[in-house]
Order: sequence, then structure tokens, then C-alpha cells
Amino acid sequence: MNLGNRCFKVLCLVLAALMILALAGCGAQKPAEPGTDVELASDASPAESQTEPQPVSQTESQPVSQTENGTEPQTETGGVIVVYFSRTGHTKPLAEYIKEELNADIYEIEAKVPYTDDDIKYYTDCRADREQADPSARPEIAGELPDLSNYDTVFLGYPIWHGQAPKIIYTFLESVDVSGKTVIPFCSSASSPVGSSAENLHSLAPNAAWRDGTRFAIGTTRDEIADWLSSLGLPEITQKEASALKLTVDGTELNVLWEDNESVAALKELTADGPLIIQMSPYGGFEQVGPIGQSLPRDDTQITTEAGDIMLYSGDQIVLFHGSNRWAYTRLGKILDLDQAALTALLGNGAVTIMISLT
Ligand SMILES: Cc1cc2nc3c(=O)[nH]c(=O)nc-3n(C[C@H](O)[C@H](O)[C@H](O)COP(=O)(O)O)c2cc1C
Repeated sequence: MNLGNRCFKVLCLVLAALMILALAGCGAQKPAEPGTDVELASDASPAESQTEPQPVSQTESQPVSQTENGTEPQTETGGVIVVYFSRTGHTKPLAEYIKEELNADIYEIEAKVPYTDDDIKYYTDCRADREQADPSARPEIAGELPDLSNYDTVFLGYPIWHGQAPKIIYTFLESVDVSGKTVIPFCSSASSPVGSSAENLHSLAPNAAWRDGTRFAIGTTRDEIADWLSSLGLPEITQKEASALKLTVDGTELNVLWEDNESVAALKELTADGPLIIQMSPYGGFEQVGPIGQSLPRDDTQITTEAGDIMLYSGDQIVLFHGSNRWAYTRLGKILDLDQAALTALLGNGAVTIMISLT
């Protein structure tokens, strides 16, 4: 090999090395990959480069790592979870309204040995009476407990049983770690106030930041819950990131509990630029169906629908039920507060127009 050739080869090697270094430098700047949220990637940089640990909330930091590994954030809230126990179903809608208003996660405490109707016939020395009178009673919880590590705020809902929280709430608080978290108790009752029921929970989790407990009457509406939530002055992120969907049928706004799934997330994206208006058609005497205009992610399973169900059919059509049908659907949500007669009056009389928009 002559000197000229050797020089040329060395020059090529140096150039190649320089190109590799340049490419490596670009990689460190996280180029936007298909499907990557560029804003989140750039948001990540300052937090990552901080040397001192910053009081960044868990939720703020979540999307950073989760965007990097390509998975959805576990929660879009300010790390809020609603935990509740509801034996006869009055506390449950309150919990669901909070979940929906704040786009929070939700966990229902269920008893390992379920409470039968006889167990809750109070003032008959029933199981609930005896447990409430027994300071050491700690009824077991069914299934797995929630992992609370991603939450800053825990709403804790229960019915008033003899002026207090049911003992299964005590079991819960002794089984999880809510240290440093804001815990906001709420309850439903026939007539009793929250009384000492919330304060008596403090000693079970002394390191939590307890807020005052609030009692709601049976049948409290979603609007009343929304007003209460606004009055709590929760961190802005909690309220700001709540992006629930609004559904109107012929101009009437309905109270909907939306599913927390990919289909509803896609529906939210679809409505981000403006409301989605769909001309529906009655079908089969049990539903209204209409085209979304594009396909959404679907996870169809055979479902026997009930009045009030909102389903995705064939990936690109939305169905509102006022009766029942069995078919493969992906659940999108459920219309609350209207019984079958009211739903049939709304959906069973010819074509309707629906509008879906972000709240
Ligand atoms: C064992 C037991 C004790 C109760 N004690 C009271 C009480 O002291 N004061 C009251 O107003 N309601 C009392 N109630 C009624 C419940 O608080 C009320 O029905 C509540 O909304 C039930 O909530 P849930 O449907 O979510 O279980 C009691 C109910 C049971 C089963």
C-alpha cells in the first residue's frame, strides 16, 4: 500500500469516527419517534438534569418515564385515587362522581366474607352491629389491596355505621401506607352527620395529611360533588388534567361514567379539536346507533347490554342502549341517573343527534 492510499484510508477512518460521534450526540437529544409526545420529551429534560431532588409530584414525573418506554401513564390525574366501601350502593355513586370529575383511579373495598342483608340489619345484633361495637374487629378485605405509591391524594369513602366508619375501613388503613398523602374522608348516611367518624380514623394513619370529613345525603348529585371538589382547593394539576367527556342527546346533557380504556382515550383525542356530532338511528327497539367517522381502538367481548350502556360497535360506531342486546362490543361508558323508562323516552322515539365534547 503506498503512502497516498494509507493517508486516504486514515482520513476515511477519522471521518467515520466523527460521524458516529455526531450521531451519538443527536441520540442524546431524544429525537421524536413516531407516536412520541415531543412536548413530554422536552419537559423531561429539566427534571432529569436537576441535581437536587425536586418536589416534583409523582404524577408530573410519571409521563416522562412512561413515554420513554412507550406505555400509557397509569393515571392522568395528580395522583388521585378514590377508595371506598359501599354495602348498599349509596356511597358508590359518590365515589364514581369523584373519579369522573378528577379523572382519578378507583378502588372498591370489598369484604372477604361479604355482608349479607341479615348482616346489616342494624339494631338486631347483626354482624355489623357487633363489629361496630367491638374495638378489635377488623373484617378481612377481599382480593388485593391497591398499590398507593403513585398517589398523592386518597379520597376515602364509607357509609356511616352507628355514627362511625365501618370497621373494614380500619382494616384498610392498617393494611396500607398513606403516610405523607392527603386523605380526604367522605361518607353517606341516612341522617347522621360525619361526626367523629373521620377523626377517629386519624390514629390509624397518623402520618397522613388528613382533611376534614364530609357527609353526603343519599342521592347527592354529581354537580353537588363537583362543587364540593372545587371547594377543596386541590392542587391545580388535579382539576386541570381532568378531561372528562360530555355527552348530550338532542341537547340534553347526560351524566356519564366513562370507561378508563384506550377507546375512550381515543374518543377524547378525537374531540380535542371540537365536539363530535353524530346523527344516530334507532335500531331493534333497544338502541340508537351512529357512525363515529373513524375507527377507535377496540377490545370487543360478548356483552349483554343494559339500558344506559354506551358501547363501541365494530370499532367505528357508537351505540346508546335503552334496552338489552347480546353482541361483541367494547364498553365506552354508562349513562347514570336515568332509569329504563327515562332512557326509552329519550332514545326510543326516532332518530336523535348526539354531541360528544370535552368538558
Ligand atoms: C350497620 C349499619 C349502621 C348504620 N348506622 C347509621 C347511623 O348511625 N346513622 C345514619 O344516618 N345511618 C346509618 N346507617 C345507614 C347508612 O349509613 C346509609 O344507608 C348509607 O348511605 C349506606 O351506604 P352504602 O349504601 O354505601 O353502604 C347504618 C347502616 C347500617 C347497615
